[in-house]
Amino acid sequence: MNIKRLKGTQDILPAEAGLWQFVERISSKVFSSYGYKEIRTPIIEETRLFTRSVGKETDIVKKQMYSFLDQGNRDISLRPEETASVVRAYIENRLDNTEGFVKLYYMGPMFRSERPQAGRYRQFNQIGVEAIGSCSAYLDAEIIILLDNLLKELGLSGYSFNINSLGCKKDKSNIINILKKELQDSISELCDDCKVRYDTNVLRILDCKRDDCKKAVKSISIKGVLCQSCEEGFLSLQEILKSNGVEFTVMPTLVRGLDYYTGLVFEVSAGLLGAQDAIAAGGRYDNLVSDLGGPKQGAIGFALGLERVIQLLLNTKTLAVVNEGVSVFVVTMGEQAYQAGFDILYKLRCADISSDIDYQQKSLKAQMRYADKIKAGYVLMLGDDELKSGQAILKNMKDGSQLEIGLDSIVEDVKRIKDKV
Ligand code: HAM
Repeated sequence: MNIKRLKGTQDILPAEAGLWQFVERISSKVFSSYGYKEIRTPIIEETRLFTRSVGKETDIVKKQMYSFLDQGNRDISLRPEETASVVRAYIENRLDNTEGFVKLYYMGPMFRSERPQAGRYRQFNQIGVEAIGSCSAYLDAEIIILLDNLLKELGLSGYSFNINSLGCKKDKSNIINILKKELQDSISELCDDCKVRYDTNVLRILDCKRDDCKKAVKSISIKGVLCQSCEEGFLSLQEILKSNGVEFTVMPTLVRGLDYYTGLVFEVSAGLLGAQDAIAAGGRYDNLVSDLGGPKQGAIGFALGLERVIQLLLNTKTLAVVNEGVSVFVVTMGEQAYQAGFDILYKLRCADISSDIDYQQKSLKAQMRYADKIKAGYVLMLGDDELKSGQAILKNMKDGSQLEIGLDSIVEDVKRIKDKV
């Protein structure tokens, strides 16, 4: 077949899917323990949702969105991120009226037409949270502590938190003015993208990775620009994080590539990953709910890149812990035993004991080899003699020990033996 998957997309095969389920399971568990509830929103949205939230001059909206006109001539996009969709759902479903303060989490695919490279895909998955309805510095702290807690629960280490504050809307516009003023004489030294950014999105010049742009912004100081209340909020967040044992670095050049941020912005980077080292990122967006037509509500969230977290886990952990086989593999000799074995499978499965049987008419030896390969916990051996006597052998595949069990009491016997282990 000549049809291949699209560039920048991935097939997640069973050998790795267990690891994905592990990350998803731990994430749901941690989010629930912090009081977050799941929300699921559509993958397609009106394009203007992202133009108005992420920002029409951002790289994401300008260069990376999969947008199309549908049969009804509606301008639609595959979501490039989920914060905008969650805020849309919050407003549309009047969650401010019914729930007031909400804590939500989500998992799912996002789409950005970026140049694919290691850790950068065109379809990728995010796991994220959004808390809407509070401006508290304690909520900022909770979001960061939660993310740190999640990464630790996943067994990760060696990552670091970089944080910064863009201040309120007024502070942010002051920062923009300072940058424009300070950079006006060195525009010609900037890279082509940053020359355009100077007019459209000057903040992004601060986190451009090119040497010339880094040099141009190096001596610019935006220290002391924050108003008193933003400065105090940012300092009090740092105190709360310290007293909770979360390590972080204040990075004044961190601005993030989406327009909706004000106040706290942060990124988690993991050195092991190379160029695409941000495994998670987020921040406050206190004006987005009202900008999209809802009430004035403080809000904050983050999203982690699932593919990057999986890559880190693959670098640091063995897959064996995650990929478990069925509990019982039924090995049979002869047609009658196969039929009886097939009936037994149904009983075991109804009792929540995962089980399987051969479907390729393999020899006895090959069935045993296969049971070993798929990491079955036990093998139930059935032949004519066993059918006659009503007793069969259950072999423990880990230690090789064997036990005789009754075919009439198979479910109870298997349960008893498994519980003992
Ligand atoms: P973002 O920084 O654009 O923020 O994406 C968050 C994370 O998604 C990144 O740190 C990275 O791990 C992953 N990611 C982004 N693009 C790709 C890609 N092309 N391939 C693989 N992974 C990728 C947001 O999306 C915001 N909505 C986060 C947020 C939530 N802010 C507030 N609430």
